[in-house]
Amino acid sequence: MKTTISQVHKHVGEEVTIGAWLANKRSSGKIAFLQLRDGTGFMQGVVVKSDVEEEIFTLSKNITQESSLWVTGTVKEDSRSPFGYELQVSGLELIHEAVDYPITPKEHGPEFLLDHRHLWLRSKKQHAVMKIRNEIIRSTYEFFNDRGFTKIDPPILTGSSAEGTTELFHTKYFDEDAYLSQSGQLYMEAAAMAFNKVFSFGPTFRAEKSKTRRHLIEFWMIEPEMAFVDHEESLEYQEQYVSHVVQSVLSNCKLELHALERDVSKLETVKAPFPRITYDEAITFLKEQGFDDIEWGDDFGAPHETAIAEAHEKPVFITHFPAHIKAFYMKPDPNREEVVLAADLIAPEGYGEIIGGSQRIDDLELMKQRYEEHELTDDAYKWYMELREYGSVPHSGFGLGLERTVAWIAGVEHVRETIPFPRLLNRLYP
Ligand code: 4AD
Ligand code: MG
Repeated sequence: MKTTISQVHKHVGEEVTIGAWLANKRSSGKIAFLQLRDGTGFMQGVVVKSDVEEEIFTLSKNITQESSLWVTGTVKEDSRSPFGYELQVSGLELIHEAVDYPITPKEHGPEFLLDHRHLWLRSKKQHAVMKIRNEIIRSTYEFFNDRGFTKIDPPILTGSSAEGTTELFHTKYFDEDAYLSQSGQLYMEAAAMAFNKVFSFGPTFRAEKSKTRRHLIEFWMIEPEMAFVDHEESLEYQEQYVSHVVQSVLSNCKLELHALERDVSKLETVKAPFPRITYDEAITFLKEQGFDDIEWGDDFGAPHETAIAEAHEKPVFITHFPAHIKAFYMKPDPNREEVVLAADLIAPEGYGEIIGGSQRIDDLELMKQRYEEHELTDDAYKWYMELREYGSVPHSGFGLGLERTVAWIAGVEHVRETIPFPRLLNRLYP
């Protein structure tokens, strides 16, 4: 019977056939251990010389790394392996022989591995990271669908920008100018006025000249937007959502977390509610920690975020930022005009900001004033202004960066390993 590694638990004691690649092998005169992978999982196949035909044992000893095979054998429970099963091999059929696979079991440098990303994706660690990414996406849809959100797809080619005009990818759109989307937010606000609670999931682009372990040029964002929801309620959605995603990965990706040697005790505590500190409190805290150079009104850098994160076990919200360091659409605090009803969510363990969100300005006059201050007077933003002309309501939303979230949950150092084909400052290939 033909099956896959992910399904062998249903066939204990039965003979099955699996299409697989050889990830690695070990052999002696009498026995060969084949590390098999079929894309659905990893499993050991054991070939015992005295149990199989001569040519099968010879093949098992000569087969090269990443050759493809049909493997036939009996499924056995195996308490020594984290996977729990192994295959007692009775037959092997070579599909295609791989010669000189470049990624050998020895150590390779990151640039070499990134040059071979199309092959590197096959490795056990990279496979685990992508499966965790997939679980985060699955549990994201589950969370928002269960709460009555409608999935809405904002455009990728846009005439206006959400997050400032300096980091835009420009392209020609026939005779007009167009930009790759930095954020779907402005469109999601329009959608929230039509569907109440909405979320998007799509690629976003930022021509940032940052070469850090947290920055990609192309990254994926989840952007919920909610009508009749204020800043405080939005924070509750955010902490519930992040808790749901973390707990889903813990339940459904045990093998992957094990393969990555992730310390899961640090994830188990991630349950709502999350601590909140104001920007003012963060400044005071940083000064106490010896950051003498930081002043009220400065934006935080990675070392500041890390210091704040280290003081908390769970992700932490920093709220009420100075208006002038945040985006034009954020609503000022009615009790204190110089700060906005916004929050960043900082992940633990130095992974930095994973969510940026805010309540949005709903007052037409104030929005007009912000447009002028930010010189956004061209036609590209006229439609966005109209959302405040026809039945404006309090509304809030946020954006979660998928790759930073994957990096944190999987415990991977650099975001370049959390997206299948990373786009970095110096890399558009493969
Ligand atoms: O804080 P940001 O810029 O917020 C927005 O774009 C809002 N319009 C979202 C909204 O309210 N709908 O970006 C949101 C998140 C960040 O917290 C971070 O996780 C991620 O996107 N992010 C990046 N991830 C990887 N590489 C980059 N260059 C990123 N820039 C932002
Ligand atoms: Mg931000």
